[in-house]
Amino acid sequence: MDVEKVFHMNGGLGENSYAQNSSLQRKASDMVKHITLKSLEETYVTTTPKSMGIADLGCSCGQNTLSTIREMVEAIDEISHKILDVPPPEYHVYLNDLPTNDFNAIFKILPDFYKEMNNDRHLHDAKNVSSVYIAAYPGTFYGRLFPDKCLHFIYSSYSLHWLSRVPPGLYDKEGHSINKCSFYISKSGPPQVSKAYFNQFKEDFSLFLRSRSKELLDGGRMVLILLGRRSQSHVDRGNSFLWELLSRSFATLVSKGEIKQEKVEEYNVHFYAPSRNELEEEVKNEGSFDIEHLEMFELERNSGPCMSHGTAVARTVRAIQESMISHHFGEHILDDLFDIYGRLLDEEIDVEDIKPISFNIVLKKL
Ligand SMILES: C[S@@+](CC[C@H](N)C(=O)[O-])C[C@H]1O[C@@H](n2cnc3c(N)ncnc32)[C@H](O)[C@@H]1O
Repeated sequence: MDVEKVFHMNGGLGENSYAQNSSLQRKASDMVKHITLKSLEETYVTTTPKSMGIADLGCSCGQNTLSTIREMVEAIDEISHKILDVPPPEYHVYLNDLPTNDFNAIFKILPDFYKEMNNDRHLHDAKNVSSVYIAAYPGTFYGRLFPDKCLHFIYSSYSLHWLSRVPPGLYDKEGHSINKCSFYISKSGPPQVSKAYFNQFKEDFSLFLRSRSKELLDGGRMVLILLGRRSQSHVDRGNSFLWELLSRSFATLVSKGEIKQEKVEEYNVHFYAPSRNELEEEVKNEGSFDIEHLEMFELERNSGPCMSHGTAVARTVRAIQESMISHHFGEHILDDLFDIYGRLLDEEIDVEDIKPISFNIVLKKL
């Protein structure tokens, strides 16, 4: 399957859209927002450009995309007024995602976004309000996206745990999956499975670092937020339980005769949750960046007044995974599948308090 052509978050503003179901990602990136803004400010203060290039890689569509940009602009505005006493820079903001992303949903809200943001900026400094130019750069971040040395700051939130493809090492010569019992790395799968995933992660992440090192100016920084795992072992449920429960939901559909077991056995996800060591090792091997900060954090539960935590997580996973699942199994199973999944999540979370693990890394270009 060509991931670049199929994989996309659910677009629009409907009940199952990413826009309506991404508050978990927002909550998590807010937990480390102070690090993101501090890194951005340090980059600005040491480079003081007249024109500042900022990219958001894997921006998706919805509230998270533009609110992050707004916070970045406000942070730099404030430093230039209050600390440096210079006019703020012009902002060149590059929004990147796969070509299948619903970029039009972002374009449609841009006029209101500019108006609202600039009104607030004028209230703070009526004379010195610079322009913000937002453009879309569709394409995979596993490869070059931008011209040489045009960026000061790169941000990427909850995107880099997605690999460029399902690892080819998961299939035998006849093209059949060797990972029949799971969609991802599991206790019961053969050892070649984790090896195939790890090899794909190394190939992808080093290409990502190499590409970004060409695009960043000297002294530029990247802030990356991604899912990961607590230890070297893959048996820690913190990173794999969402897949494990999705597999179990599929097993229920097989037992109800809604899908065929063989179809489930062939499905694998293009996802990898690296450990702290694996991230450090790849950055060191690639050699273009210094690790300024690397922290692991856990996300708390998110149940609201109108839905359980399990339902909220199931909707989040649906908004992300629907394109891949419906491509392989067909759309007809989606409602039933994610109802079962939400119920399973609630049952499991009641028994064991499992929290997904994330990493926040700040890399400075050497
Ligand atoms: C879960 S969303 C995160 C969106 C947003 N950054 C946030 O924090 O809410 C992950 C995004 O990464 C994008 N993505 C995954 N692989 C990518 C790739 N190789 N190149 C560019 N974008 C990619 C997906 O299309 C998706 O929009």
